[in-house]
Amino acid sequence: MDLNDPKTQSSKLVPHKGFNLISGTHDPDDVDQIYHLEIRDSDVFVVTYPKSGTIWMQQILLLLESKGDVTAISETGYSNGDLIPWIEVIGNRLEFICAPSPRLRVTHLQYHFLPAALSHKKGKVIYVARNPKDVLVSFFYFHKYANMLETPKNFDEFFEKFLRGEVFGSSWFEHIKSWYSHKDEMNMLFITFEEMIQDLLSAVKRIALFLDKQLTDDQLANVVKHSTFSNMKTIPRANYEQVPGDLLSHHLGRFMRKGTIGDWKNHFTVAQNERFDEVFHRTMKDFPFPFVWDIKDFQ
Ligand code: A3P
Repeated sequence: MDLNDPKTQSSKLVPHKGFNLISGTHDPDDVDQIYHLEIRDSDVFVVTYPKSGTIWMQQILLLLESKGDVTAISETGYSNGDLIPWIEVIGNRLEFICAPSPRLRVTHLQYHFLPAALSHKKGKVIYVARNPKDVLVSFFYFHKYANMLETPKNFDEFFEKFLRGEVFGSSWFEHIKSWYSHKDEMNMLFITFEEMIQDLLSAVKRIALFLDKQLTDDQLANVVKHSTFSNMKTIPRANYEQVPGDLLSHHLGRFMRKGTIGDWKNHFTVAQNERFDEVFHRTMKDFPFPFVWDIKDFQ
């Protein structure tokens, strides 16, 4: 821990039931109550490990609700984070209880914290997965400008912390494996960041079908248009540029950073890559889902 880091005092991880929360952002007792929430059939939870495309899915879900009408979303006067908040952030659980339907929420929590009713096929869950090498790189940059997280000393230190799960969100490996192993108990759509990159229209259609949303071809095209990387970059309401500077130091980074597959190749040393592969193959050997590691894999 760097005591010269002005963020150090406000960026303490709080281990709770095998999962690292963030002091000041989460309250462990409150997080425990999420398990008991009553769930409506129209509730939708987007579940992600950090940096897997959460804000992308927020934008897509809002556009599906508005049938591709981006103006209708901006006219609410709220940001995407207000319209689809994190259930685990202090204050948001109580707000959820009385909120009107449809209640759309995002979460980074592990499976065992989420409402038990989801495992009885109440509500819907969309799990967005991303290859963990790109997650690691994106998370490294996020730590530099997110004031609730400690600034890493350097990439090498962060690389090790990520592999050990000593970060907010804890182990990427545990996160995806625990959710995936329960997917058949839930109404769950499992979708990847990489397939959204490869073919956004097909991904949006899958999501619309899963949510029983009927949109015309033009409306679907508008959903895609307003959720591309280049367009989201210009929408402060959607890309978190409106988040106050005490939470995000906007001069040090941004949510919409690269939005691609394979940026890890610009950061990992050969030795780090071999080490990551060794951990990945050992930990994920029974996981039935293939990952895409490079944008060139699509070409
Ligand atoms: P990079 O840092 O690799 O660019 P989260 O919302 O879970 O924090 O994820 C943020 C990551 O998703 C960032 O990755 C960001 O650029 C990427 N992202 C967000 N919207 C995107 C979009 N429309 N297209 C591609 N990537 C997007």
